[in-house]
Amino acid sequence: MNVFLAGERVLLRPLEMDDLEAFVGWFADREATRYSMGVWLFPWSRYETEQWLKRTLLDKETLSLGVVEKERGSLVGYAGIASISLMNRSGEYYIFLGAKESWGRGYGTEVTRLIVDYGFASLNLHRIMLTVSEPNTAGVRAYTKAGFQQEGILRDACYRDGAYHNKLVMAILRSVWEADRASQASGEAKAQ
Ligand SMILES: CC(C)(COP(=O)(O)OP(=O)(O)OC[C@H]1O[C@@H](n2cnc3c(N)ncnc32)[C@H](O)[C@@H]1OP(=O)(O)O)[C@@H](O)C(=O)NCCC(=O)NCCS
Repeated sequence: MNVFLAGERVLLRPLEMDDLEAFVGWFADREATRYSMGVWLFPWSRYETEQWLKRTLLDKETLSLGVVEKERGSLVGYAGIASISLMNRSGEYYIFLGAKESWGRGYGTEVTRLIVDYGFASLNLHRIMLTVSEPNTAGVRAYTKAGFQQEGILRDACYRDGAYHNKLVMAILRSVWEADRASQASGEAKAQ
């Protein structure tokens, strides 16, 4: 496997056309796509998913990485940074774990930390933002644990399952990430 970033329990690797079947299944899963963008409220054909995957593989303006569970070696989703601005040194984090059996095992938190580290350390970003549906408790918690802070509330910004809900704007700045890293390093040094 062509590993791009390695964590304790997940590996991040480039996406491949061989991943198509996994995406076809996930994009047809209403529960998995519930808090994703409105385009997933429309059915996705295999053809459309194939075209989307081709575009995604060739898009050098977005960081897109497949998330592989180390234990079983299977692809469980994808994540990355979109809308990268070289002028503002900013980007928008996203994650989608389509394999529901992978939820609640800490992968979302670990992937978020890995990609945030990469965004600041290697892409030299200054700010990484995201938006998340307020009822998506696991998402909000994973992002908070990885250092994102809430900046605002987009009231009733999303309509799902017969009701509107708020979307939260969250972001992490480089200075916060650096301070977290410094305090982790000093904690580790004291423990030794
Ligand atoms: C949202 C998502 C990224 C979260 O990743 P995950 O691997 O399931 O979450 P984690 O296991 O890292 O859990 C993060 C925290 O949320 C908590 N959590 C997990 N599932 C939860 C649930 N259903 N309800 C409440 N809290 C939950 C965990 O306990 C953990 O908190 P803790 O460490 O304090 O115990 C993932 O489930 C996902 O991709 N879902 C589908 C697509 C999606 O919603 N993407 C995000 C759009 S913004």
